[in-house]
Amino acid sequence: MALTAILGISAFYHDSAAALVRNGKIIAAAQEERFTRKKHDPGLPKHAIAYCLEESGLSADQLDYVAFYDKPLTKFERLLETYISYAPSGFRSFSMAIPVWMKEKLFMRRTLRGGIPGSTSAPLIFPDHHESHAASAFFPSPFEEAAILTVDGVGEWSTATYGTGQGNKIRLTHQLKFPHSLGLLYSAFTYYCGFKVNSGEYKLMGLAPYGRAIYTEAIFKHLVDLKPDGSLWLNMAYLNYCQGLTMTNGRFHKLFGGPPRHPESNLEQRHMDLAASIQAVTEEAMLRMGEHLHRQTGMKNLVLAGGVALNCVANGRLLREGPYDSIWVQPAAGDAGGALGAALFVWHQLLERPRPVTEHDSQQGSFLGPQFSPAQIQGFLDARGIPYDQFPDEADLLWNTAALLAEEKVVGWFQGRMEFGPRALGARSILGDARSRRLQSVMNLKIKFRESFRPFAPCVLQEYAHEWFDFKTRHESPYMLMVAPVREERRAPLTSEDEQVMSNSSDLRHRVNVVRSFLPAITHVDYSARLQTVDEERNPRFYHLLKTFHEMTGCPVLINTSFNVRGEPIVCTPEDAYRCFMATEMDALVLEDCLVQKHQMKQVEDSAAREQYLAQFQLD
Ligand SMILES: [Fe+2]
Repeated sequence: MALTAILGISAFYHDSAAALVRNGKIIAAAQEERFTRKKHDPGLPKHAIAYCLEESGLSADQLDYVAFYDKPLTKFERLLETYISYAPSGFRSFSMAIPVWMKEKLFMRRTLRGGIPGSTSAPLIFPDHHESHAASAFFPSPFEEAAILTVDGVGEWSTATYGTGQGNKIRLTHQLKFPHSLGLLYSAFTYYCGFKVNSGEYKLMGLAPYGRAIYTEAIFKHLVDLKPDGSLWLNMAYLNYCQGLTMTNGRFHKLFGGPPRHPESNLEQRHMDLAASIQAVTEEAMLRMGEHLHRQTGMKNLVLAGGVALNCVANGRLLREGPYDSIWVQPAAGDAGGALGAALFVWHQLLERPRPVTEHDSQQGSFLGPQFSPAQIQGFLDARGIPYDQFPDEADLLWNTAALLAEEKVVGWFQGRMEFGPRALGARSILGDARSRRLQSVMNLKIKFRESFRPFAPCVLQEYAHEWFDFKTRHESPYMLMVAPVREERRAPLTSEDEQVMSNSSDLRHRVNVVRSFLPAITHVDYSARLQTVDEERNPRFYHLLKTFHEMTGCPVLINTSFNVRGEPIVCTPEDAYRCFMATEMDALVLEDCLVQKHQMKQVEDSAAREQYLAQFQLD
């Protein structure tokens, strides 16, 4: 049977990516930033495309279709119409956008073909932006049928859509249109609180538990009219993104008590309260959308994608309090995942090919990126003269790694294919002992070089998740997209000293360091944790590492944070990993079956080299 190869591409906004689907199977998917080392790289994903072709063993002329994740002309029409309705006040932002459109985006066919190494005459297909998100949510999911909800900043015109997926077809029936957007509203508060739009949203979410949702009423009164069905109308008199280069305007600043926070300046209680308030509004909107969609469709399962679906606190509430038995979220829920969705859309929706449903989903743990063989890794270490121990027997490797972790060592963990999506899931991770009282601040300050008001995420053996977290036995969170509370009996009572720190300290680092459970490094101030459940099928080696650690210590949980420093894309190659390892105070590095330990290295610490390394990355 002839094989059909479809290349999916997302590009020119943020988080460019490519994905390759062959006869419905996801062969490869990767974000461009991992290759260029430029975070959220929005350019034509030439490296990611080349990688996808190489992984599939295909040349460009063997591609049957190329699918781009949105319709550039419709997007351009939105830009023009928005400008016209706000003219002349939006001239500056309009005049900045136009040259890029003229140069690249309007001639997309030519531009896209130019990014593919070799030549292809494969037809180019342009699904809608939200069709791509919806396809990425439903087609790889483990459900025969499901309700579909996509929520983001904006695609062409849509800012949220819903519908259903059944068998090999999706059907989107309703949409919410620009400028009324839950994603852009959240981004407006992200901007106002001094974080970067399109990348700092998860920081705002992490800040929310410190605050009280005292501005919710003001938001509902002046900014957002949230309907019972979850649709919303924004009062654009307070927002500036239609016509300006900022998200908010003077009226917004007056309403919330001052100008936007300067990035990196002190976080005040006001910012925490704002974060808590917009988070509460977002959760309410997501719950209403989810409930309405359930009433409309009667579906037991829900799938989610779009940038707002990365809000794992809202996802967790929807799962706990909403009407669905199960929720599956596309791990690359942002625009990177549009590349995968567009390719799957062509295969199932347009070519009408069947969709076999698997128990675990067909995302393959999202391990869809480059991999390096033990021989390649050994070659790299030998060529650099780096001392290492090799453990051809996996049990030995895992025992030694678990023993280091139990001694509170911080371990870089590089295994198999790189993750697709913003979370490290045990292929490019930094690991630590979640029971440690000191690792939270050590890992934040000496390894990630970042503000430390956010705790780390835990990974936990799937079968023990319900014993440590308020998480039903049959539920899973393999892609770290659900938040669940640490179980009551695992919490530690606060001493009176702790309570004082919690109520008086203006420094959030002191507050986050208060020990409030037996897993202090991963427990947030409201006892929540951003959970990854680990099962044997998706990532056997990582699962066995956790099992070994559990046997050794009685604890089935580890800290799992992405393998990078602040502002750096997650590492891709052994060389990236080694450089990051040397620039930080990580103690050990496991590259496939090789273990590198810093204390065995002759090389003395080179602070100039470290500074130089860190200077490459813009703070995110
Ligand atoms: Fe999107």
